[in-house]
Amino acid sequence: IQQTFLMVKPDGVERQLVGDIVDRFERRGFVLKEAKLMTISEDLAKNHYAEHAERPFFGELVEFITSGPVFAMVWEGENVIALSRLMMGATNPAESAPGTIRGDYATTVAENIIHGSDSLASAEREIGLFFGK
Ligand code: GTP
Ligand code: MG
Repeated sequence: IQQTFLMVKPDGVERQLVGDIVDRFERRGFVLKEAKLMTISEDLAKNHYAEHAERPFFGELVEFITSGPVFAMVWEGENVIALSRLMMGATNPAESAPGTIRGDYATTVAENIIHGSDSLASAEREIGLFFGK
């Protein structure tokens, strides 16, 4: 059975969307295994987003993700990595379908409410980073 790392970003916590987001994944049939409200350090942010270090928006990305508390979670279930990405919607909310989390709640790519691991390798890496396994 598969696990993934999902995180409600500071904009989603600020807008009090944690409950709604947890509810969506529970109703889909996934199981919440770990969760914590936390503020991400600059070091953790840079490590988590290391693949984007050379992008022009990297500084903005690190600043945003450390700007307030996030809600970090481990979810488990059949095909949870790919299905949770579908439930999140496209990275750029300008392109995410209504009915998805980003498609329902976000309008800009810089503040797109939720993060989800995009592969088995990144799920394992991110669960380790945030929950120390
Ligand atoms: P994550 O689940 O957050 O990793 O999103 P993703 O996998 O759908 O997208 P990706 O990993 O390619 O980008 C990581 C994050 O960088 C996105 O979720 C956006 O929040 C942010 N991002 C992407 N493009 C831009 C941009 O042009 N400007 C800013 N400020 N942020 C961006
Ligand atoms: Mg990503």
